[in-house]
Amino acid sequence: MQIFKSSPEISDYLKSLHNGQTVGFVPTMGALHSGHSALVERSVAENDITICSIFVNPLQFNRKEDLDTYPDRMQADIDLLEDLNCHILFNPSKEDIYSDESRLTYDFGSIGKGMEAEYRPGHFEGVAEVIHRFFNILKPTRAYFGEKDYQQLAIVRWLTEKYAHSTEIVGCETIRDKSGLAMSSRNYNLSAEEYEKASDIFKTLSYCRDNKGSFQPQELAKICFDMLSVDFRPEYFTIADQFTMEPLKEWTDSEYPRAFVAAYCGNVRLIDNLSLITNKNEK
Ligand code: PAJ
Repeated sequence: MQIFKSSPEISDYLKSLHNGQTVGFVPTMGALHSGHSALVERSVAENDITICSIFVNPLQFNRKEDLDTYPDRMQADIDLLEDLNCHILFNPSKEDIYSDESRLTYDFGSIGKGMEAEYRPGHFEGVAEVIHRFFNILKPTRAYFGEKDYQQLAIVRWLTEKYAHSTEIVGCETIRDKSGLAMSSRNYNLSAEEYEKASDIFKTLSYCRDNKGSFQPQELAKICFDMLSVDFRPEYFTIADQFTMEPLKEWTDSEYPRAFVAAYCGNVRLIDNLSLITNKNEK
């Protein structure tokens, strides 16, 4: 695997490739786990060249403590990417990515309003800014994102269309451990006891999906929020349309309802989501 630390070097290298070679891109913030591996494996299978980036993007952290405690496992990450046959690791510095201090302003519409946008002000502006810059540097054929961060995936799709990036966005299903807990770099910061408890988040999402018939959406979301409040500090439990991200009042408001949750387990903030469609193929 080749490691590039500067954007001029990687873009020169990419320009030297044969025309027609496809480039798959998997952006990450490192501390890789099997959720990331699934994205890299898919990219390796679908493209001639796969680039994984590891860049802890300061712009998307609204709490300094969260940025300071973000896990760093660089050597283990390199070993894993080698095992996955990833061709290139792009690991630029902040100075490289943000050498130009101008920032775009984004009007995401309804997808940039509730949930993560509400509880992490500026977060999606930071995500959009870094992805826009990465796409300009790498011009990937395809880029792979997890449904675990479903609202982020919607933001990236919006950004790609708005700025006419020629990259195809590939959404990939959430990878979970045996207990149902969604894999996350933040799980590395959970104690053994917290790790065990954390699977209740998925259990609550599943309860929500299985009890759709008995309650209206807002009533059911409140029940789930209260269930989680026993052991967690939930920020939100929202049932929304998975395309507009608008909360539902009635089930008839959406053909694609999805439950979204953010909750603190100890000091670790976890997010997850689940499609509430039981009788159609998930979209
Ligand atoms: P990070 O949290 O490192 O996640 C990188 C990618 O892995 C994202 O697309 C995320 O949705 C996906 N991912 C994380 N956990 C997953 C899981 N359990 N199953 C499937 N996919 C999973 O998300 C970010 O970094 C950043 O915001 C980034 C997009 C890199 C921009 O800085």
